[in-house]
Amino acid sequence: MKRLFTIMCASLMAMSIATSARTLIAYYTYTYNVMGIVGELSRNIEADVVRVLPTDTTLRYEANNYALGSQLIATIRNAPNDPASYPPIQPQEVDFDLYDNIIIATPLWWSNMAAPMQTFLFNNGSRMAGKNIALVVSSSSSGISSVVADAKRLIPDGVHHDPALWINDTNRSSKATLIQQWVQGLGFDQPEPQSITVSAGGHSFTATLETNATAEAFMQLLPLTVTMNELNGNEKYHYLDTSLPTDAVRPGTIHAGDIMLYGSSCIVIFYETFSSGYSYTRIGHIDDVTNLKAALGQGDIEVTFGTDAGPVTGDVDGDGKVDGNDINRIINIVLGKEPAGDSADVDGSVGVDGSDINTIINLVLGK
Ligand SMILES: Cc1cc2nc3c(=O)[nH]c(=O)nc-3n(C[C@H](O)[C@H](O)[C@H](O)COP(=O)(O)O)c2cc1C
Repeated sequence: MKRLFTIMCASLMAMSIATSARTLIAYYTYTYNVMGIVGELSRNIEADVVRVLPTDTTLRYEANNYALGSQLIATIRNAPNDPASYPPIQPQEVDFDLYDNIIIATPLWWSNMAAPMQTFLFNNGSRMAGKNIALVVSSSSSGISSVVADAKRLIPDGVHHDPALWINDTNRSSKATLIQQWVQGLGFDQPEPQSITVSAGGHSFTATLETNATAEAFMQLLPLTVTMNELNGNEKYHYLDTSLPTDAVRPGTIHAGDIMLYGSSCIVIFYETFSSGYSYTRIGHIDDVTNLKAALGQGDIEVTFGTDAGPVTGDVDGDGKVDGNDINRIINIVLGKEPAGDSADVDGSVGVDGSDINTIINLVLGK
């Protein structure tokens, strides 16, 4: 049996922290402007996505001076309560009980909501009662007040967010910023920014990650200890073995503490603020850069990126895992070759001794 709508988990956000309220993005697109908008929405909010498709995907709504598109809209306008007025769309089961928030993203056709999206809402609007409804409309230039009215007519018992977002040919090039700001104003649950630790030169820093696919993929690599190379007196960089998703922008000003991806695999930590013409994908930012420059030093340096899940028992070297390096470190501490930190007293006996060495060996051996 043919699966007629497509529901897909927004893969960009699939790894992000679960939020208490769940969001569905339902969209229709004909010439793919709205699809681009949905891509931006997915970067900014954790959501499942459903795409509305007409039963006949070969129809040319713009042919003959938009004859079919205008006929479809006129038919709905003439009899909006008649199910026969709505063009057929491919059926899809959506469990609306899963969602508290629904974003409708649609093109504008002859001042109204595009006909296939109207069909979707005519069929499902009653199942959206009580839910937060937010509307994004894409048009060439026409204002969207009638589309807003369509949404309220078709989802009469929804809690409609004001304002709807209007993307048009004049502001389309700024859609990333407009969408980000609009999503922030929705008050819908957002993916929580995650924190990591960045340890180098005997200092540990907390960094807040971006809520983007690149940061998510980077997080999956942690804990990670790498040698980072010095460059230009303002950055340390390291080429990963794997590529991460990219969405590069030219930030203009680089800030000390920025953690960026250059290309698809080069992790960069900047320790100076300066202007740059290069493009990077943002991964995160070190919250407090006091001592950062000193910690990173003037040459190449070993840096550990760790998850911020709290101390791990036996993780004497603070790289987020317990392994042979911790055994070496604890032996050196017991022998007085290295200073003991709080993490060295793994058996809690107050004092670091052979018992702590045994405890760590047992942890490493999985006993
Ligand atoms: C049948 C039809 C009618 C349209 N009518 C209008 C209109 O009245 N005013 C306007 O500004 N744009 C109109 N447009 C343009 C679309 O609203 C605009 O290109 C939108 O971004 C398309 O989104 P999409 O690429 O996701 O399909 C129309 C497009 C079609 C196909």
